[in-house]
Amino acid sequence: MDLSALDFTGRHLFVAGGSSGINFGIAQAFARAGARVTVISRSPDKVAAAARQLQALGTQALGLAADVRHPDSLERAFAAASARFGPIDVLVSGAAGNFLASALDMSPNAFKTVVDIDLLGSFNVARLAHAHLRKPGACVIQISAGQAFTPTPFQAHVCAAKAGVDMLTQVLALEWGPLGVRINSIVPGPIAGTEGLKRLAPTEETLDAMTQRVPLRRLGRIEDISRMAMLLASDWGSWITGAIIPVDGGLALTGPRDFSAAAAASRRDR
Ligand code: HXC
Ligand code: NAP
Repeated sequence: MDLSALDFTGRHLFVAGGSSGINFGIAQAFARAGARVTVISRSPDKVAAAARQLQALGTQALGLAADVRHPDSLERAFAAASARFGPIDVLVSGAAGNFLASALDMSPNAFKTVVDIDLLGSFNVARLAHAHLRKPGACVIQISAGQAFTPTPFQAHVCAAKAGVDMLTQVLALEWGPLGVRINSIVPGPIAGTEGLKRLAPTEETLDAMTQRVPLRRLGRIEDISRMAMLLASDWGSWITGAIIPVDGGLALTGPRDFSAAAAASRRDR
């Protein structure tokens, strides 16, 4: 078996929302495989720290502050990144925000804030990246969530936004396939130690209940997601586009989730 498919030496990985959690884990995995990495997120301190950690792995890395809701800041980031490392070979789009709230407890601005980051932000990232993607050959990976297809109380904003993200994946796969650009969604299940999971399972009890819902009876690890990202970006993924791929221990096969206990616990915390 030829494992050189997983050697990304000299390739350019760009990660939107790449300064922490799952997306930063993906950046680290590609950096270890030789890629030159750009990470962007809102916080200048977080992107600078992320770039330093990636450089410590022995690769070239750039951290740039940009908000996916602001096309001007994104345009500047893409221009600086491609001036430094050349065309983007792999684009990971995973900037997101979340909190538990019932639809009635959500102001229009609360709903809009998550839709703006997750959905409009993904559109902005993909649209503005297009000019900088290697054509043919680039691979775009959107980081979705099970809320995209599992109706989930207290998550109206995320459900609506991530469903839109997955539809965007499929539309762009059709529009960009002839250019040799592939685009897929990874749908992570609950990943241990992340901000996203902390917000949905803030107590021991809610974390245990979440784990028991997973058919494989364990939480995910960041490597579960970064390995799928590497597979998709490698030659082994060269005929995969427009796919919505759960990496979730089978959670997508179970029914709607009940976050009422977690919502009550996080209400007490506020
Ligand atoms: C009700 C809330 C709220 C809450 C904020 N709002 N938190 N409403 N319940 N708990 C409302 C505010 O009152 C405001 O509405 C509006 O949302 C915008 O809030 P801001 O704080 O001004 O927004 P902003 O500074 O842009 O911050 C965005 C954010 C924040 C999403 C609210 O939490 C954030 O930056 N999150 C990034 C990190 C993160 O969430 N990571 C997890 C990703 S995981 P009003 O009307 O008062 O103006 C994920 C889920 C995947 O995406 C699934 C995991 C299994
Ligand atoms: P995280 O650590 O909070 O990651 C979110 C990242 O997005 C951060 O780097 C954040 O940095 C950045 N970000 C937020 N708003 C932004 C904006 N407006 N513009 C640019 N960057 C922004 O959360 P995570 O739990 O690892 O989640 C990562 C991804 O996985 C998300 O897409 C999430 O929906 C998905 N997911 C997570 C889980 C899970 O179990 N954690 C499950 C399913 C799906 P700044 O604060 O510096 O902006």
